[in-house]
Amino acid sequence: MSENNKKLSREPYKGTRDFYPEDMAFQKWLFAKMREVSESYGYVEYGASPLEPAELYAAKTGEEIVNEQTYTFEDRGGRKVTLRPEMTPTVARMIAARRRELPFPLRWYSIPNVFRYEQPQKGRLREHYQLNVDLFGVKGIEADIEIISVAYNIMKALGAKDENFEIRINNRKLLLALNKHLGITGDKYQEFSKLLDKKDKMESGEFEKKLKDILGGGSAFLLGLLSTRDLESFIGGLPKDLQEHESIKEIEEVLLGVKFNNPKINVKFSPTLMRGFDYYTGIVFEVFDTSGENKRSLFGGGRYDELLAIFDEEEVPAVGFGMGDVTIRDFLETHKLLPKLESSTKVSLCLMEGVAPDFVNNTAKTIREGGINVSTDWSQKKIGDQIKSADKAKIPYIIVIGDDEVKTNTFILKNLATGKEEKNGLPELIEFIKARN
Ligand code: HAM
Repeated sequence: MSENNKKLSREPYKGTRDFYPEDMAFQKWLFAKMREVSESYGYVEYGASPLEPAELYAAKTGEEIVNEQTYTFEDRGGRKVTLRPEMTPTVARMIAARRRELPFPLRWYSIPNVFRYEQPQKGRLREHYQLNVDLFGVKGIEADIEIISVAYNIMKALGAKDENFEIRINNRKLLLALNKHLGITGDKYQEFSKLLDKKDKMESGEFEKKLKDILGGGSAFLLGLLSTRDLESFIGGLPKDLQEHESIKEIEEVLLGVKFNNPKINVKFSPTLMRGFDYYTGIVFEVFDTSGENKRSLFGGGRYDELLAIFDEEEVPAVGFGMGDVTIRDFLETHKLLPKLESSTKVSLCLMEGVAPDFVNNTAKTIREGGINVSTDWSQKKIGDQIKSADKAKIPYIIVIGDDEVKTNTFILKNLATGKEEKNGLPELIEFIKARN
């Protein structure tokens, strides 16, 4: 075959997904849970275009994402445009634009698709959907506690058991204070924090070596400290003047607060938790699968009080998280929590040969007006095949229409999962289906 008439690929663009109706049904289910829990805490939904001026990401997103992971191009007017790799700069921009009018504290959420030029692998694609839940205008630790509680309760609403996942928290302020104490500042601190962020992806020997390269003599002390398993021994290992640092108090308060709100929560301090973005300023957290199946974090977030300053606006305290649909789906699959979803169409009308279309259309109309989604199989295939199609499309009920139905105006509603049949007039059958849904 010549180049010109080479057949087109049926695959979607690398690292992206097509959403067939069953995938869309899952996505709708997932988003509904996310919305339900977020709204129950008073969060309201917002949205924005996936196209942003490239400069939005230059200041605070972090080099790796900006230089290696964004889709950036020049538009026909010569502007540099980026497909959003995350939502936080966008929401910060929106708030900066109306800071004076908006009623703080603001509780906002969104479920945007975001784009990152990554090597596709388990848990990582080039386009994913990400729930963003953010609280603006609260300085106090109550906001961090609330945000972690929302994250926890979404996991619970998705059917996760407490033992299936754990939440790890740390405080950027603590790392900063500790590094200042050790004289690790400026570029060295940046290098150190990037290394820490990648620690779990490295062999321990490699991490030790790289830490030594950056810190020289101070590395042994830090290594010891970072390998402590709980907050108490970590504090014990700190230099005296840092043991009462405000960052430690914040961690203690968050641990206590989230446990008070959610007594069974599996939450712990993790001195090596960093998170990739430069804009975090305080508490950071990540949620992990405890099964060992899904190694990378499921999702995470933290406090970013200074981000609005990039718009030359006064700082607005902010805390939030981003929860991706890919890692969550993997988690639900691992723990056998994927829901069994049926079609949004509840009834398929299967037609015997020769039935008058007007009668069929009137029947469908009555069912539809009764609030039930119904489709009509006009294929003229054999009844058995029409039923098979309905079943394959996950439509739970069928009604076969033939001469008897036309004569008596009585119908047999068949539940395809159980095989059970219900014979009655349409109003009664409509009520029957409604009672079940
Ligand atoms: P992030 O950790 O970069 O944070 O992304 C949040 C979550 O999105 C990840 O934990 C993961 O679930 C998902 N995710 C990220 N990249 C990918 C990818 N390539 N493929 C699939 N899933 C992915 C943020 O984006 C912050 N803006 C979150 C935030 C909101 N912080 C405060 N508010």
